[in-house]
Amino acid sequence: MAVSRHKTRHRGPVITMLWNTALEVKTRVAVGSGARTKLSGILAQISAGKKVLVLCQPTTAVQWLREILAAIPSDDYHVSTLEVPDGETCKSTEWLVRIWEHLQERHFDRRDTIVALGGGSVTDLAGFAASTYMRGMNLVIIPTSLLAQVDAAIGGKTGINLPAGKNLAGTFFFPRAVLADPELLSSLPKKQFVSGMAEIIKYALIEETVAKHTDYEVGQKKLFDVLNTFVNSGFDYEDPVCAGLITSSIKMKLFVVGKDPHEGGLRRMLNFGHTLGHALEKVADYRLTHGEAVAIGMAAVTRLSVTLKKLPKAEGEKVIKLLENAGLPTELPPNLDRQKLIESMAHDKKREGASIKLVLPVTRLGMVDYEFSLPIEEVDKLI
Ligand SMILES: NC(=O)c1ccc[n+]([C@@H]2O[C@H](COP(=O)([O-])OP(=O)(O)OC[C@H]3O[C@@H](n4cnc5c(N)ncnc54)[C@H](O)[C@@H]3O)[C@@H](O)[C@H]2O)c1
Repeated sequence: MAVSRHKTRHRGPVITMLWNTALEVKTRVAVGSGARTKLSGILAQISAGKKVLVLCQPTTAVQWLREILAAIPSDDYHVSTLEVPDGETCKSTEWLVRIWEHLQERHFDRRDTIVALGGGSVTDLAGFAASTYMRGMNLVIIPTSLLAQVDAAIGGKTGINLPAGKNLAGTFFFPRAVLADPELLSSLPKKQFVSGMAEIIKYALIEETVAKHTDYEVGQKKLFDVLNTFVNSGFDYEDPVCAGLITSSIKMKLFVVGKDPHEGGLRRMLNFGHTLGHALEKVADYRLTHGEAVAIGMAAVTRLSVTLKKLPKAEGEKVIKLLENAGLPTELPPNLDRQKLIESMAHDKKREGASIKLVLPVTRLGMVDYEFSLPIEEVDKLI
């Protein structure tokens, strides 16, 4: 801790001090086939305590838990497991309390570790629990869905849902390590793989703006073009391009979050499609996957941008086509209560006064305006 120079007089008037900390966050991120086998090495590197809680969901318990448990040396660690319900159901205060109680009953302390083995629901919940138990303990994430590998596990946002909305309680908390292994996707249902594709498409649509503001560099081919080829060749996790797409997405997110960890500005661009997406998830009672909802949101802001003449029509059409070819929806589901949707967007975290902040694709694919404000009374233009 460092306070700017100030002569102490041991008196009590009101003074102001500029307080800086030496807080530094370091997360080890391993991406690629076999990354999951690094777990025991990572536990040693972070000097983890003797206790490990592996949080999983029913699907990952069946598919991967045994292998992950076998990778943790039983002579060195006492390992317990907790299986939480599938999907959004686990992102609740009820499950948060259950985790806290599990940790407390087994006398976990701050050096002990939660290992999150699952999709974004588990990684969000595990992150929240790890950040709040004893004001923060070790967290290692092994994301098992494509969406969690490219997005939810990266960047330190944690959260649970409240009855009034998604992710309404959460923290910024960075894991000690993330092990993103495409082989874990071998058991992922196609619908969930497609859901993750939505977030990769998002990265393709912000790539140039990320490169402009951070040290990220666009490769020989734009992510959008690589994605187009991947999608048109019937995409799956075994295609070596898949691992590359995951790595590029993670890099982009790390560069953005590294510059703006607490979403002061730049990080907002990662919310492309998410304002409508989050509202849709809630109003549709989570029948849409996160990626499906975000895809509809991205299509909506793209159409808005074309209408406002900020994006050429032909560029807008390419976005819609890529989403459709990837098997993602681009229109609102029929019979959805539009009024509820508008109300939900009006209560979004990204609301600022009388408008909501949107990320708009502008000029050409890869570029976005992440400061665009839409007055609340015009929100219906989006749908
Ligand atoms: N914190 C963040 O920055 C951030 C970013 C994006 C999304 N999210 C959150 O992530 C969640 C969505 O993530 P998700 O789509 O991964 O959800 P999820 O965890 O619900 O997983 C989706 C489904 O895939 C199954 N699954 C996961 N991995 C599997 C595997 N390897 N094999 C078989 N089945 C598997 C799960 O059981 C579940 O049924 C949302 O709650 C969203 O809010 C958070």
